[in-house]
Amino acid sequence: MSEVLKVALPKGRLGEKVYSMFAACGYECPELLSGSRKLIFTNEEKRVSYFWVKPSDVSVYVERGAADIGVCGKDILFEYEPDVYELADLKTGICRMAVAAPESFTDDLSRTLKVATKFGHIASEYYSDLGRDIDIIHLNGSIELAPLLGLSDVIVDIVETGTTLRENGLKERETIAPVSARLISNKASYMFKKDMIDELAAKLGKEASGR
Ligand code: PRP
Repeated sequence: MSEVLKVALPKGRLGEKVYSMFAACGYECPELLSGSRKLIFTNEEKRVSYFWVKPSDVSVYVERGAADIGVCGKDILFEYEPDVYELADLKTGICRMAVAAPESFTDDLSRTLKVATKFGHIASEYYSDLGRDIDIIHLNGSIELAPLLGLSDVIVDIVETGTTLRENGLKERETIAPVSARLISNKASYMFKKDMIDELAAKLGKEASGR
């Protein structure tokens, strides 16, 4: 049997957009969008096998070689710093990592700043560079709720359209970094399947630039 490339895709809207890019590049696997509860979808002819995983798990599968390649947001790469190769910016899933706070917030430098976030590492690095003392409150979702209920002073989170902030009376204070979807590869897979991976990365890079 010829070699198959194992691809971890992030479940959800971003994953579907990204899959359409793979399909446009000739790596289609229509069964993937069938709504089936199956977890692994293979197109033998195209030598590709896909599986959906939680966006924050993509880098785990790729780093450990359960997937040869995968697609995840740059936010995940900043946060977990997985030992993988970053091969291409897919120029989709574009958003930014930012600090936001209620309109009325003013920072009191004599107090420890309470920061709610899913991205503890990013927040620590950002504030440590500023020399600002912080207390990180780790949450798993609906981060915007934290300052509204007094759980935190500010949040560090993804902002895409800014709608969630606006509708909750929050204001973006600083942009920490731009974020977009990245193609990543396991390091050993890249050695052993270099030709396949390079070909796919080049096609995806071209597809991304044409968008
Ligand atoms: C993300 C992010 C913000 C929102 C930003 O949440 O955490 O809440 O999207 O998008 P916007 O600027 O377009 O409003 P997600 O939908 O992933 O869910 P979560 O709250 O569970 O993290």
